[in-house]
Amino acid sequence: MNDWKIIKLEDCDSTNSYAKELRKQGLLEGRTAIMSGWQTKGRGQATNSWFSEKNQNLLCSICLKVSIPASEHFILNVFTSLTLIELLGKYDIKGSIKWPNDIYVDNQKIAGILIENSLMGAQITETIIGIGLNVNQQNFPDTIPNPVSMHQLKSRTFDLQEILTALLHILEKAFAQEEQPMRQQAFNSYLLNLYKLNTWSLYRTNDQNFEGRIIGVKPDGRLIIETDGGKLKLFEFGEISFLI
Ligand code: BTN
Repeated sequence: MNDWKIIKLEDCDSTNSYAKELRKQGLLEGRTAIMSGWQTKGRGQATNSWFSEKNQNLLCSICLKVSIPASEHFILNVFTSLTLIELLGKYDIKGSIKWPNDIYVDNQKIAGILIENSLMGAQITETIIGIGLNVNQQNFPDTIPNPVSMHQLKSRTFDLQEILTALLHILEKAFAQEEQPMRQQAFNSYLLNLYKLNTWSLYRTNDQNFEGRIIGVKPDGRLIIETDGGKLKLFEFGEISFLI
């Protein structure tokens, strides 16, 4: 744990954007975690924003040098999602991974992940792993769909610094799994922790609703759904929404 550089900010636009700026200026050395009490332009997937009350939640970006073929980018998502599942487990909270970037507890979202990579040719050389984890916030605006926080689940306040330290500890173990068999094992646990795995449910794609059940995820990150006609369909990020 002692080779992490930790940058603590009172506020910033977005910890991921801050990290990108540092990288642009050549100031990101080694393993760095940037944590902010508040973000004025917190970013979510696609054009979504990330809302969090001041000093209540974990808002961080973890910057790592890696060497991963771009075709295997999804392993970063696998390691990060499993890190969050293990972290929540440490606080006796059973999370599940809502493909592709969310962590749920039952049917509510407790965390979101925004991974942004730098490539050199076909190789990912640096990654910025943005994590927003709802920790101590007790009330959320109605505009946020189905949020939940650790405080709402456990009726107590958590120390954000302690959570970050635990997160980095788990994450560095996850990212040390360089050998293929370990990665395969991580991928298998990712599948076992998937939200709605094998559960018939309603989805929407191309403006049409359909019933299906998630039966897995391809190593490249595409979601595999069996439809009620027995066909298997593959979906990329952004191609499908969960309706219930
Ligand atoms: C999502 O659910 O769409 C992903 C949300 C990711 C939010 C985190 S908060 C810390 C980091 N900085 C950002 O601007 N976004 C990520």
